[in-house]
Amino acid sequence: MDYLSQINKTNVPQHIAIIMDGNGRWAKQQGEDRVFGHYEGVNSVREIVEACAEVGVKYLTLYAFSTENWNRPKDEVDALMELLVSTISLETPNLNKNGVKLQAIGDITSLPKSCQDELQESINITSGNSRVTLILALSYSSKWEITNSVKQITQQVKLGKIKPEEVTAEMIEKYLCTVNYPDPELMIRTSGEHRISNFLLWQLAYAEFYFTEVLWPDFRKNEFYKAIVSYQNRERRFGLTSDQLTKN
Ligand code: IPE
Ligand code: IPE
Ligand code: MG
Repeated sequence: MDYLSQINKTNVPQHIAIIMDGNGRWAKQQGEDRVFGHYEGVNSVREIVEACAEVGVKYLTLYAFSTENWNRPKDEVDALMELLVSTISLETPNLNKNGVKLQAIGDITSLPKSCQDELQESINITSGNSRVTLILALSYSSKWEITNSVKQITQQVKLGKIKPEEVTAEMIEKYLCTVNYPDPELMIRTSGEHRISNFLLWQLAYAEFYFTEVLWPDFRKNEFYKAIVSYQNRERRFGLTSDQLTKN
């Protein structure tokens, strides 16, 4: 089925977040090494970024490497870091062509220097673009991010700049890596896992979740459009009753 034609262009999510999962299992199914799956996953990334530009999704956050992923076998971690460097340098002209601005969230200083440099270069080169903002979550975990925010706020309290009773949700958000982006309306996870794995715990408070059995290297444009159509068929109530929503 062609899902693109079913998308209501007036109700496309502004921000979609994706847990790109299943690369290892995809490779295993082909009788290949796990790293082969990560390589193939890059093609899905390219297609989904392009799809965002085509349907008008303004922000796309991709969970590319979690804090916990550092505990994987060294060979796999090294391969992922190399892939990151080579992909960013190869894809930057393509990002520019599609009007994509690259950004990153996470503990970026923990990445190898070559990754940090490549990332920074691409962020600089694409900084003038405004069609889509692509946010890579790298060495990211939500508990790390929220803990950082709490540290900053307690520091302000210690200095007497704010009182404990003055702490607000907005203040916590101000110190999250995502301060410049709206919260995602839709979160997609591929590969049949139904969990959030330390991803955007705060920001996904009211997001719609979409889970698919499709493994990330097989998740291409039409699968993405299918997720958007599913989102558009839901009623987002934000604590209200259905009747309240239809009256407004
Ligand atoms: C997702 O695929 C990519 C990263 C976590 C870097 P996985 O590598 O987790 O693949 P599976 O879940 O083992 O199949
Ligand atoms: C989550 O996938 C992290 C990324 C996609 C980068 P994992 O494959 O690491 O998650 P778990 O460990 O199965 O929950
Ligand atoms: Mg996985």
